[in-house]
Amino acid sequence: MDYVIEMLNIRKEFPGIVANDNINLQVEKGEIHALLGENGAGKSTLMNVLFGLYQPEKGEIRVRGEKANITDPNVANDLGIGMVHQHFMLVDTFTVTENIVLGSEPKKMGQVNLKKAEQEVQELSERYGLNVDPRAKIRDISVGMQQRVEILKTLYRGAEILIFDEPTAVLTPQEIKELIEIMKSLVSEGKSIILITHKLKEIMEVCDRCTVIRKGQGIGTVDVKETNPTELASLMVGREVSFSTEKTPATPKETYLSIRDLRVKDVRGVEMVKGLNLDVRAGEIVGIAGVDGNGQSELIEAIAGLRKTESGDIKLHDKVITNLSPRKVTQSGISHIPQDRHKFGLVLDFPIGENMVLQTYYDKPFSKNGVMSFKNIYQKANELIEEYDVRTPDAYTKARALSGGNQQKAIIGREVDRSPDLIIAAQPTRGLDVGAIEFIHKRLIEERDKGRAVLLLSFELEEIMNLSDRIAVMFDGQIVSEVKPEETNEQDLGLLMAGNTTAKAGGE
Ligand SMILES: Nc1ncnc2c1ncn2[C@@H]1O[C@H](COP(=O)(O)OP(=O)(O)OP(=O)(O)O)[C@@H](O)[C@H]1O
Ligand SMILES: [Mg+2]
Repeated sequence: MDYVIEMLNIRKEFPGIVANDNINLQVEKGEIHALLGENGAGKSTLMNVLFGLYQPEKGEIRVRGEKANITDPNVANDLGIGMVHQHFMLVDTFTVTENIVLGSEPKKMGQVNLKKAEQEVQELSERYGLNVDPRAKIRDISVGMQQRVEILKTLYRGAEILIFDEPTAVLTPQEIKELIEIMKSLVSEGKSIILITHKLKEIMEVCDRCTVIRKGQGIGTVDVKETNPTELASLMVGREVSFSTEKTPATPKETYLSIRDLRVKDVRGVEMVKGLNLDVRAGEIVGIAGVDGNGQSELIEAIAGLRKTESGDIKLHDKVITNLSPRKVTQSGISHIPQDRHKFGLVLDFPIGENMVLQTYYDKPFSKNGVMSFKNIYQKANELIEEYDVRTPDAYTKARALSGGNQQKAIIGREVDRSPDLIIAAQPTRGLDVGAIEFIHKRLIEERDKGRAVLLLSFELEEIMNLSDRIAVMFDGQIVSEVKPEETNEQDLGLLMAGNTTAKAGGE
């Protein structure tokens, strides 16, 4: 068999943990090879070893049959290996082309030849159907486009083997479809892809084979044609996973959150929330369904105090909370699981334990008379780490060193534990493995049953349908219709989200 990549008996340790314990991975030329495993199983670590970011303690890497010593990412590039990371590494104020050529600029008489580079970027973009504008600034383009810039960056450096670390976690359903087409066009040109994803549907749809790792150990490689999502899930988790969420009908009580005629502008000054009305009651989960870019982020940020409103009212109980500071909003009884965990969720260079009291460290029992009690902080942190299954060597480990999914579980634990009246959950299961998703869904339903109000934002219709008691469809800055999940289906919901108001809304 012709393998482009062979990783044999790879071992990689971090202080207090063996992230990769004797793992094998063999990738054939021209295939899309999935790498599947729970949060913290060691997938990103293994790929960072292949890309030369980490040196393994043991094991051998072969590239096209030849033993390779990948001491840094430049060596990986020279061997034709490219990586699109879980968290992008682009310079915001630079253009697409400037980002792509960074570090490998084509020189003409000692000067960077940007024109030539732009042309090359344009050609690559067209060849693989990426549709990227080489002159756009990174900060002006969508997350989906930024990801394509990362892909172009690897292609520009001549990558033949592409590593994608959870590329679809940050994408909308439409962008995912397009990325899948891009991956297919890459392999049809002879490239090979290693794809990390938690979405079993994606594995079933595009991958040829799938290697499963569990708690740092290799479980084996299966042929995707010969497996199914249920088997994949139990291979990775080591037990049966239920895909549907069980819940009893909601019994909503008084209105907790009430929004009237709200108007909010985005960073560019464009009005994105345009006179929106919405109520969320105690004991119910209201899901906001909508195509990305219809004002959802601005709405959530306005409620959480992260963005100024233009006009209108946001009330919690009978108290107006419009334009309060984030801390005041928090103290009034609102929790926020943010969409962007690095921007709003964590201080990456703080220990994970201290991150778990970010909103409460100034209160008892964590502070007394202005003095922090680290004993109490770490006791709380350890309880939450245990309860939410946050996999980390200990509470003193920096948040940065946790795997993406475990960072997310830590934020959810912190936000839910404060027993707020309202939980804003913006894409709460982004980047989580199927087992963790099952757990988080259960927890949110439990919170509902304790009488909390839950406002859920998700781009995954399956999650919206499974979890919501009521679905509010957001289009062009307003809630345009409301449906009950049992009275609709994904297709009708899709039509409503596209602004088609004649589609079936519940109860009509
Ligand atoms: N730089 C680091 N320093 C210390 N520990 C680390 C570091 N990077 C990863 N780890 C640990 O290694 C283990 C594997 O992490 P890794 O990021 O590879 O998981 P993953 O499979 O990619 O998970 P996820 O699906 O959540 O992204 C985790 O326990 C993590 O905390
Ligand atoms: Mg990872």
